[in-house]
Amino acid sequence: MWRAKIITIYPEMFPGVLGYSIIGKALKDKIWSLDTINLNEFGFDKRNSIDDSPFGGGPGMVIRPDVVERAVMSILKNLKIKIPLVYMTPSGRPLNQQDIVRFSQQKGIIILCGRFEGVDIRVIDSLGFEQISIGDYVLTGGEVAAQVLVEGCVRLLPGVLGHAESILEESFSENLLEYPHYTRPKIWVDKSGNKHHVPDILVSGHHEKIKEWRKEKSIEITKKYRPDLLKK
Ligand code: ADE
Repeated sequence: MWRAKIITIYPEMFPGVLGYSIIGKALKDKIWSLDTINLNEFGFDKRNSIDDSPFGGGPGMVIRPDVVERAVMSILKNLKIKIPLVYMTPSGRPLNQQDIVRFSQQKGIIILCGRFEGVDIRVIDSLGFEQISIGDYVLTGGEVAAQVLVEGCVRLLPGVLGHAESILEESFSENLLEYPHYTRPKIWVDKSGNKHHVPDILVSGHHEKIKEWRKEKSIEITKKYRPDLLKK
C-alpha cells in the first residue's frame, strides 16, 4: 500500500478531490492510504503557536522549525519504511511527470504544506525536504498543491487506472503533448449551425496511418503550446 502522509494546519481539506473518482475508489480499496498530521498539535508554548515573525523583518509569519521537526518525528517514529519528504512551496523546483513517476515508485510520501510566508528554511534543509512547486503562481497554502502531487502519483499505482496503455500514450510520455480526441457525432452541428467534421483518417480504419497522424498532431500541438518541451 502506497502511503501519503500530509502535514497541514487544515487536515479537514483532505481527502478533498482525492476522495473522488478512481483515486477515491483506490483509497477505499486500500491501494493507497492517507493520513493527515495536524501541525497545530505540535505548537510550542501555552498558546500552542506554530509560527513567528520573520527575522530581518517583513510581512507575515513563518512556521517554526522546531514545530515542523516534532511533526515529522511523530510520523517517522512509527514508520518502518523510508519515504521521501516533500515541501510544497512556490519557491521549489517545478513538478513534472518524471517526479510523479519517481514518487509513485516509492513506498509513499510525506508532504509538508506551507502556509503564511513559509517555513523556516533550516528545518527544510536539516530534514532533507525536497522543495516542489506546482507552477509559477502563488497559492495561499500547499494543500491544493499536495493534492495535485498525490493525485498524479496515485493514478500511476498498479490497479488504479483501467487501461494500462492509457498511461503510455498520455501527454508528456515522450515530452510531447497528447494528440486531440474525437467521438460521436461524426458531424457535429454547433448552436450557430456550423458543421464540424471528424478527421477522415480517424474513421478510415488504417491503424498505422492513424498512429502517424496522431504523432504529427502531437508534434504540432507541442510546437504551438510548449516549444520548450521539444528542446529537451
Ligand atoms: N504553495 C503556494 N503556492 C504554491 C505553488 N505554486 N506550488 C506549491 N506549493 C505552493
